[in-house]
Amino acid sequence: MARGRQEEIGIALLGLGNVGLGTFRILEAHAKDIERRLGARVRVLHALVKDAQKSRPKGLDVTTDPEVIFGDPAVQIVVELIGGTTVARELCLRAINTGRHVVTANKALLATHGEELFGRAQAAGVDLLFEGAVCGGIPIIRTLREALASDRIEAVIGIVNGTTNLILSAMAEEGSTYGAALARAQAAGFAEADPTLDVSGMDAAQKLCLLAQLAFTARLFPAQISVEGILGLEPADFSLAHEFGYVVKLLAIARRPPGGPLDARVHPAFVPRQSPLAEVRGGFNAVLLQSAALGPSLFYGQGAGAMPTGSAVVSDVIDACRDLLAGVAGRLPMLCAPNLADVALSPPGARQGRVYLRFTVSDAPGVLGRIAGVLGDKGVSIASVLQRQPKAGEPGATVVVFTHVAKETDVRAAVAEVDAFASTRAPTRFIRIEDEPPIGPAR
Ligand code: HSE
Repeated sequence: MARGRQEEIGIALLGLGNVGLGTFRILEAHAKDIERRLGARVRVLHALVKDAQKSRPKGLDVTTDPEVIFGDPAVQIVVELIGGTTVARELCLRAINTGRHVVTANKALLATHGEELFGRAQAAGVDLLFEGAVCGGIPIIRTLREALASDRIEAVIGIVNGTTNLILSAMAEEGSTYGAALARAQAAGFAEADPTLDVSGMDAAQKLCLLAQLAFTARLFPAQISVEGILGLEPADFSLAHEFGYVVKLLAIARRPPGGPLDARVHPAFVPRQSPLAEVRGGFNAVLLQSAALGPSLFYGQGAGAMPTGSAVVSDVIDACRDLLAGVAGRLPMLCAPNLADVALSPPGARQGRVYLRFTVSDAPGVLGRIAGVLGDKGVSIASVLQRQPKAGEPGATVVVFTHVAKETDVRAAVAEVDAFASTRAPTRFIRIEDEPPIGPAR
């Protein structure tokens, strides 16, 4: 394949859905700027689609046949925007094996087959770039790979899923129902084809694995981390969070204390209202980094949607073009051996932190005392407590406990004991409070 100085670089888009169209529009609308910055034109030569009869942007050559793309020697960069982990994997491998640079926004593919794909790309001497795979338009991959390559990252804490953030914001701020808020996220093009990936926390876990691999050079797969989605949250949790000065967010967290195990998890959390993460609303995402030299830094922007994600994809296309023009590849670390190593992970339940507990109980003498007794027996200290009479239609009175810092296994053991009491009317809601710096104010 031609490398070195050239006037035009040919690319092919695999997939022309939401992000594919955004990518094409940006390449068209910013063509002159891109050419000025690059010193060469970028031309979309083909787009692989499922249905060639659908109406497409003018001037775009669409095909349903991958052979058209792989048979064209002018295609130097393949942009995979199909999604999924089967056809996308095959086509990425084919692009790599035929010496093409690859750009993808497919976090599921990289979280599952990343090591294989990066390894093959490294061996073939081509780039595999993936800025669009995490947090849409926020340049967080570049930040970790390049800007902070100098630093030692201690924590990555993110709101990395636009769909769930939109749902949580709409439920908390507008009293929207879960279903109406999800429909909005789908209409905005944020949600995955199967939104279960979003609401179960799995999409966030896939992104967290990529971030943690870059931040800690740790080999990490979603199946290794504890993942909780947003489905168990109820309106009472949002109103109680508000009353006590918190906002409910789905957080993706990876922390590694010097010499300690990596603590990686995804779950809803109470975040103090003063935290910069509390301000992240709707489809926006943010990643808060804590690093040894820089200290805390925050990266914020639109985390999903055609144009923000398209912008990240095009930035990768430009990077791959720069490498083609310079006749180099693999300037950036690949997420495979020897750059990644197995690391010790914190076992589930090892977290020490504050917790919000919402008990639903019968309004009878001694119930509150028994709850306090069980928590005390397990060494869990109560910071504040509130009891509310049942409203019409509610199964019982509400007892809310905010704990002091406690070991998660101790709190879980206490909750299991309380949930077994005859006086307990519904499973107790357990939500972690994340208020340590850098999420909360410096202490
Ligand atoms: N479904 C994802 C989200 C799309 O809602 O954030 C962006 O990765």
